[in-house]
Amino acid sequence: NCHCSFELVESIPCDMAYETNSTTMKPLYQAWMGLLNMTQERIHVASYYWSLKGEDINVNDSSSEQGEDILKKFESLLMENVSVYIATSLPTLAVNSTDLKVLKEKGAHVRRINFGHLTKGVLHSKFWIVDMKHMYIGSANMDWRSFSQVKEVGAVIYNCSCLAKDLWKTFRTYWDLGHANATVPSSWPSNYSTKINKYRPLEVQFNGTLTTAYFSASPPAFCPKGRTPDLISIIDVINDAEEYVYVSVMEYFPTTRFSHPAKYWPDIDNALRRVAFNHNVQIRLLISCWLHTDPSMFHYLQSLRALSDPHTNITIDVKIFIVPVLNHTNIPFGRVNHNKYMVTDKVAYVGTSNWSKDYFSTTAGVGLIINQTSTDPQRKKPVIQEQLKNLFERDWNSKYSVNMEDLHGQKDCVWEE
Ligand SMILES: *[C@@H]1O[C@H](CO)[C@@H](O)[C@H](O)[C@H]1NC(C)=O
Ligand SMILES: *[C@@H]1O[C@H](CO)[C@@H](O)[C@H](O)[C@H]1NC(C)=O
Ligand SMILES: *[C@@H]1O[C@H](CO)[C@@H](O)[C@H](O)[C@H]1NC(C)=O
Ligand SMILES: *[C@@H]1O[C@H](CO)[C@@H](O)[C@H](O)[C@H]1NC(C)=O
Ligand SMILES: *[C@@H]1O[C@H](CO)[C@@H](O)[C@H](O)[C@H]1NC(C)=O
Ligand SMILES: *[C@@H]1O[C@H](CO)[C@@H](O)[C@H](O)[C@H]1NC(C)=O
Ligand SMILES: *[C@@H]1O[C@H](CO)[C@@H](O)[C@H](O)[C@H]1NC(C)=O
Ligand SMILES: *[C@@H]1O[C@H](CO)[C@@H](O)[C@H](O)[C@H]1NC(C)=O
Ligand SMILES: *[C@@H]1O[C@H](CO)[C@@H](O)[C@H](O)[C@H]1NC(C)=O
Ligand SMILES: *[C@@H]1O[C@H](CO)[C@@H](O)[C@H](O)[C@H]1NC(C)=O
Ligand SMILES: *[C@@H]1O[C@H](CO)[C@@H](O)[C@H](O)[C@H]1NC(C)=O
Ligand SMILES: *[C@@H]1O[C@H](CO)[C@@H](O)[C@H](O)[C@H]1NC(C)=O
Repeated sequence: NCHCSFELVESIPCDMAYETNSTTMKPLYQAWMGLLNMTQERIHVASYYWSLKGEDINVNDSSSEQGEDILKKFESLLMENVSVYIATSLPTLAVNSTDLKVLKEKGAHVRRINFGHLTKGVLHSKFWIVDMKHMYIGSANMDWRSFSQVKEVGAVIYNCSCLAKDLWKTFRTYWDLGHANATVPSSWPSNYSTKINKYRPLEVQFNGTLTTAYFSASPPAFCPKGRTPDLISIIDVINDAEEYVYVSVMEYFPTTRFSHPAKYWPDIDNALRRVAFNHNVQIRLLISCWLHTDPSMFHYLQSLRALSDPHTNITIDVKIFIVPVLNHTNIPFGRVNHNKYMVTDKVAYVGTSNWSKDYFSTTAGVGLIINQTSTDPQRKKPVIQEQLKNLFERDWNSKYSVNMEDLHGQKDCVWEE
């Protein structure tokens, strides 16, 4: 009884050129403006940090204009008495940004959640809930670079209160711990529980196609009863594939990244190797390289790829996506493919986490699992998977995706025509 409409959205950094007529999704900026325009009563935003103005990082560049527009739109919503609830990570990366101070002065409710104290992680989720019925989830931070300097993929769902109410429960897990001395409850009260999960995903219509969907969450300490942990969802989606698993994530490490001493963590790596070996599922990993890439990542990727063998039908391909920096050298932490999604022959998955241990054990994130596969041949085609697959293949086949052996010796990730 939930008739929703669904849209994939993306940002392509300025001055990147794909071939004419290649697949493109609705621009993130347009989708966010559209969501803000339709907001009537309240908006909940789960965010890592806010930095929507160029001056926050001493950059004077026209590519920050869209971010600044979005901030102004939030201010105008507050002037119209829309309730704005913002959950964000403490301490913040964006030390000089005044966005949240300004919004708070205009009436926004802001809570800074100290995930360092709570779980030794950060709040890395990126989602919105508009009027308890529309939603955004995806890779984009509340950062002006998300529209013009960083490559992002996300999903927007409209008119879908049945799913929005469930995502709101995850918002509440953050919100209710946004005070001094908060601790993670050893058992969350029953009103945080959900019945919508990998065992019982919600049946909804997405653009008229019968779909099952659910939201996962991480870390497990933020999964009240019934909530499927994000890592479990990812492994389930991989295990369920019969033909292919295409993954586009910024970083891939079968290890910890932020906690010490470093620990090996083969959970996802094993799942990929297992389906490639047991079921000849074709694996493709599209991973990013940019100025801040730790080159030790390439060893893990080479190890995965080394399993490929045409004689045994094991196919694990890896490509490295490089966003050309061109003359945008004045912009720190830009020019990267920040995507966090996966598509299989069964399911589309849109997440907010990179693939290394900490994101699933200490850091807060969410995942959206969309399943339009049916045994009923009369059912409509799995439109969303097709679209996400086309998006993946556009990037995979583009000139920006290179083989590891074609990276320069020092793995400097400078893209050359
Ligand atoms: C669903 O419908 C909306 C509005 O017509 C459209 O923008 C969107 O692309 C459609 N989604 C899919 C998955 O086809
Ligand atoms: C792109 O699509 C348009 C409209 O369908 C068509 O006229 C044009 O020839 C196409 N261009 C290329 C390079 O394929
Ligand atoms: C949002 O509203 C503004 C001002 O009313 C308008 O200029 C803009 O075109 C709208 N944008 C979208 C995406 O609906
Ligand atoms: C923040 O502002 C201080 C003082 O102007 C400056 O030194 C510092 O580089 C700024 N930090 C960032 C991330 O821009
Ligand atoms: C930003 O650059 C524009 C033109 O490049 C210039 O007119 C403006 O004064 C600059 N603003 C600041 C704050 O430096
Ligand atoms: C917002 O609320 C204030 C105080 O209740 C009221 O004076 C103002 O007219 C309201 N504005 C709008 C646009 O509803
Ligand atoms: C949501 O539903 C309303 C009422 O049925 C409709 O007018 C509106 O166009 C829908 N919005 C989207 C984005 O599909
Ligand atoms: C937090 O704990 C400190 C020290 O135990 C105490 O002084 C303070 O009142 C507490 N704050 C709140 C909001 O409970
Ligand atoms: C559950 O109930 C408590 C106490 O009334 C409230 O503070 C909390 O926000 C509720 N949580 C949800 C997800 O409804
Ligand atoms: C997707 O739905 C199909 C058909 O109901 C089911 O067999 C499959 O297990 C589901 N896959 C996932 C990953 O949820
Ligand atoms: C590999 O696939 C081919 C074609 O599907 C098949 O003939 C062959 O037996 C397979 N080999 C193995 C080792 O599974
Ligand atoms: C970067 O190059 C583009 C086109 O090549 C030019 O329009 C733009 O002004 C340049 N920007 C800077 C900051 O040099």
